[in-house]
Amino acid sequence: MTAASDDILSITAPDRTQVAARLEELRNSIRHHDYRYYVLDSPQIADQEYDDLFRELRLLEEAHPDLVTADSPTQRVGGEPLAAFGELRHLEPMLSLANAKDPGEVAAWHARVMKLVADAGFAPEAVRFSLEPKIDGLAVSLRYEAGRFVRGATRGNGIVGEDVTQNLRTITALPLTMREVVGTSGEAPPSSVGDGPGEPSPLAIPALMEVRGEVYLPLAAFERLNEQRVAAGESTFANPRNAAAGSLRQLDPRTTASRPLSLWIYGVGYVQDDPFLHQTQVLAWLRERGFRVNPDVRSAETLAELLDACRGWEERRADLDYDIDGVVVKVDDRAMQRALGSVGRDPRWAVAYKFAPTTAQTRLLSIGINVGRTGTLNPFAVLEPVEVGGVRVGLATLHNEDDIRRKDLREGDMVVVQRAGDVIPQVVSPLTDLRTGAEREFRMPAACPSCGTPVVRALGEVAVRCPNPDCPSKLVETLKHFVGRPAMDIEGVGDKLVQRFFELGLVHDPADLYRLRYEDLLPLEGFQERSARNVLTAIEASKSRPFDRVVFALGIPHVGGQVASWLTEAFPSMEALRSASAEEMGRVEGIGAVIGDAVAAWFAEPRNQDLVDRLAAAGVRMEAERRRARFAGVGAAGAAPGGDHASLSGSLSGSTLVLTGTLPTLSREEATELIEAAGGRVTGSVSGKTDYVVAGDAPGSKLAKAEKLGIRVIGEDELRALLSPGS
Ligand code: IVH
Repeated sequence: MTAASDDILSITAPDRTQVAARLEELRNSIRHHDYRYYVLDSPQIADQEYDDLFRELRLLEEAHPDLVTADSPTQRVGGEPLAAFGELRHLEPMLSLANAKDPGEVAAWHARVMKLVADAGFAPEAVRFSLEPKIDGLAVSLRYEAGRFVRGATRGNGIVGEDVTQNLRTITALPLTMREVVGTSGEAPPSSVGDGPGEPSPLAIPALMEVRGEVYLPLAAFERLNEQRVAAGESTFANPRNAAAGSLRQLDPRTTASRPLSLWIYGVGYVQDDPFLHQTQVLAWLRERGFRVNPDVRSAETLAELLDACRGWEERRADLDYDIDGVVVKVDDRAMQRALGSVGRDPRWAVAYKFAPTTAQTRLLSIGINVGRTGTLNPFAVLEPVEVGGVRVGLATLHNEDDIRRKDLREGDMVVVQRAGDVIPQVVSPLTDLRTGAEREFRMPAACPSCGTPVVRALGEVAVRCPNPDCPSKLVETLKHFVGRPAMDIEGVGDKLVQRFFELGLVHDPADLYRLRYEDLLPLEGFQERSARNVLTAIEASKSRPFDRVVFALGIPHVGGQVASWLTEAFPSMEALRSASAEEMGRVEGIGAVIGDAVAAWFAEPRNQDLVDRLAAAGVRMEAERRRARFAGVGAAGAAPGGDHASLSGSLSGSTLVLTGTLPTLSREEATELIEAAGGRVTGSVSGKTDYVVAGDAPGSKLAKAEKLGIRVIGEDELRALLSPGS
């Protein structure tokens, strides 16, 4: 028993029934606040209060392991890594959808539905439609027995899917238990779903049912995840859907838990003693029961209304913080649905109106190579600049050699380029019909373009690496990473300057930065007394960055910001970390054998030991500060799925802000932290719900959008004024 739980117990010395009752109370309360936060997006308590509830529950459960229930909020992360996923047969097949690529095809579908419905003896004026966003994620089926989540699976082949139950449990928006609907207690959902025929909700929870929905990764989280992966020297995900699929299909549920996946629920599969008459009624019921149903679901009666709603969605698409690729139009009446039936896998009663993708065609001029910090050779596309979805694009990522081969991209090809949401442009495919024969096939160079060392490809890896530890590109990238915003955040020392320092022989590795003297800088072109002093001050200031940032800044393969914070919680000093074995590190929540090995191997290198020693001698922080304990079982990422609970009392309480460009003194992380501490929310894209756009230097398209929507644009000074009004 831990000392803390001892305290709790010794105050009241409760008996088992009292403990069980308190546990139930805590669980219900946490479920309620999860629902308010993750589903209704309207929290009622502050971060700290929520943490306290969670902590009490966890400690009490630790003291009474026999009273832990499978649907306790603490059990979202707990499963051991799996060797492979099992299979799960859907009780009712998961269908797919026929596409309509333009309004004409929607009209044709509508005409066919009207005819078939009339043939089946229904009154045509009784036909209504439910219109829902088509979420671009990963379909899942969730099985509930008597309102408890028991198993969940991916779509698979529609009949049998992969059992991803443990991973689904980590998604905070997924209710482990359905809500009890408390008749008149005023807890009604804030907006009802559509304006459907409005039969009373069947209150009873079916003994067995499948709930269907789409798991997705919000765009901001997708961008953050890719940034972390780049920083950790890992490959990036091509789009949010791949990232969501990759995250849900992790054999280690703790990895899934560290990705802020979310969920939109759009229907049901098998329902025992199915009481539902309409799709809109299904959605309203699911929402009442605690499921996250999209609030913008519409209903329509006529073709004109239907097309209008589709166009509305298409316009709003860019404002959403998740990807949608169309609108699903469903016949609302389920008896009509049954009468209409399916052709193969496609139900006749539904159609997906697909949006035109944001693509363009241009020429792939050449394929260039970057050598990354860890030595990977990363190909990128040099394009003839072209406008895609309102943004001018000249470069695009190409991931790796296999990707180029798979797509059969050749230098000189005309290609299709695509952007999704706010995401980095991609080269989708070549237009092979337009080939002239002058196109050149791409071959990964056999030698590093930076230092000429023959490259190596590790067994089972797609990436090709330069093995030379003194490769200039690697060294410069390591320096850039070290001074960067998420790492040591050395203001005024950017990519160009470290490159110059390196080329001039002033700085070879990060520790050399701390040996720079005023006399070194002054003779450099563009430096004056003041700028030289500023740079030295900024370097000096970086010595007191938090310890986890120092560890992240070292650029150890696989150690992104999240992993660095887990590692430093477990090993709060450089001494502890460098003397930890691979196994000890691998046992830390969220870390695993691969990362453990990588970190231990990094510290085993004499040159890295020397680097750490010199950083320590320079006075860089080598120990964590004491921090308050976090509540959940996944280290510092406790609240990660879905974000932190917001403070309710701050000066920005209830406001939504978007950051763009480089702020004069605050890093993006710092600004986000301050805004959240003041009760505000930071989202990745500008929409009608945005209150302020905080713009710095070189703002992106978000600024233009804010101006278009008439949203207030402020700078860092104004942000600071909002953060501490009256000061
Ligand atoms: S209904 C009719 N509703 O689209 C049964 N599907 O192409 C089909 N999807 O596998 C599912 N949003 O992954 C339905 N509101 C929505 C949806 C939706 C996204 C996905 C789902 C399905 C695929 C079919």
